Amino acid sequence: MSSIQLVTSEAYSNIAFVKYWGKFGRQYPLNPSISMPIPQCKSTCSIEYEINESNPGISSFRFEGQENILFQERISKYLTSIEDIYPLSKKLSLNINTSNNFPHSAGIASSASAFAAIAKCLVQIEQNVLGNVENPNQRSSILARLASGSASRSVGNGEFSVWGKNKLNIGSDDYSIDIFLDQSTKTQLGWPLLDTILVVSSSTKSVSSSQGHSLMNTHPYKDARIEQAHENFRVLYSAIHNGDITTFGEIIENEAMSLHALMMTSYPSFCLLHPNSLKIIELIKDYRQNTKANLYFTIDAGPNLHLIYPHCEKEKIENFINSDLKDFTESIMWGEQLES
Ligand code: DP6
Repeated sequence: MSSIQLVTSEAYSNIAFVKYWGKFGRQYPLNPSISMPIPQCKSTCSIEYEINESNPGISSFRFEGQENILFQERISKYLTSIEDIYPLSKKLSLNINTSNNFPHSAGIASSASAFAAIAKCLVQIEQNVLGNVENPNQRSSILARLASGSASRSVGNGEFSVWGKNKLNIGSDDYSIDIFLDQSTKTQLGWPLLDTILVVSSSTKSVSSSQGHSLMNTHPYKDARIEQAHENFRVLYSAIHNGDITTFGEIIENEAMSLHALMMTSYPSFCLLHPNSLKIIELIKDYRQNTKANLYFTIDAGPNLHLIYPHCEKEKIENFINSDLKDFTESIMWGEQLES
């Protein structure tokens, strides 16, 4: 009889500045993407495991202390789908506990952080049982990617995370890599950059990311989008390294609007922006023009806005959010700094 062992891990959600949109093969991205961790959105996972070849699989799955059959089925399917890459899944009996430090109902995708935390635990188990994992971060990113593409960017410890082959030759389609900035660049950018999330609507999305990705395969703008993403990636990467926050802001807003334009022009087409999302965009642009503040936005496949700004401009920008934007939101998840 083998004994029961415990592994635990944590992972932050991430916000993409150049968006992953469209995939092929085994969860490979059609274009490179780059993201930053969201410190106020963290998932924790703990797994009790034992070798039990006669009865492998998930014996219990709890999300925030409650049994969750839906999640359990999704993770079971995932474990079966990776048996060729992670053969241990055929031998392990698992009790999985996950939780988020942010409300599940806030309309914020928790799959990236949750899957990254689970993948990190799976790699720890592999290390404990087989002791042969050469590059645990890389391995965790591969396993996370196979659960959800954006989760591949939630395993690292860098200031930014890059996933997908690109013309700068600094990435891979298989896993993400960490990008670290030196102190002088950070100072120029006003580091840390905060991500305050304006929850415009927390209702469930009418279209899943997976459906959205698959519509890219036949999208009339597919080739142009891939080219645009490569170019935006190149310009953003150099802006980050040159401490050029204005160019950074231009690119991230262009990416957000391009993502939504792609969704609006797919067959079938869908619009996930809410009237309040558009109102907020307009107010941000006016505020920026009037004050020259470095306040920029990005948006994922939903109506909520991520407001990105340097910590050194926090006070005035947060006053503006409270006085001018709050009324157009359901709730606000204020940006935080990463724990050191
Ligand atoms: C718009 O990673 O949720 O947030 O791989 O099907 O799980 P799957 O999709 P997912 O897609 C995220 C898309 C995005 C942009 C991004 O995070 O890069």
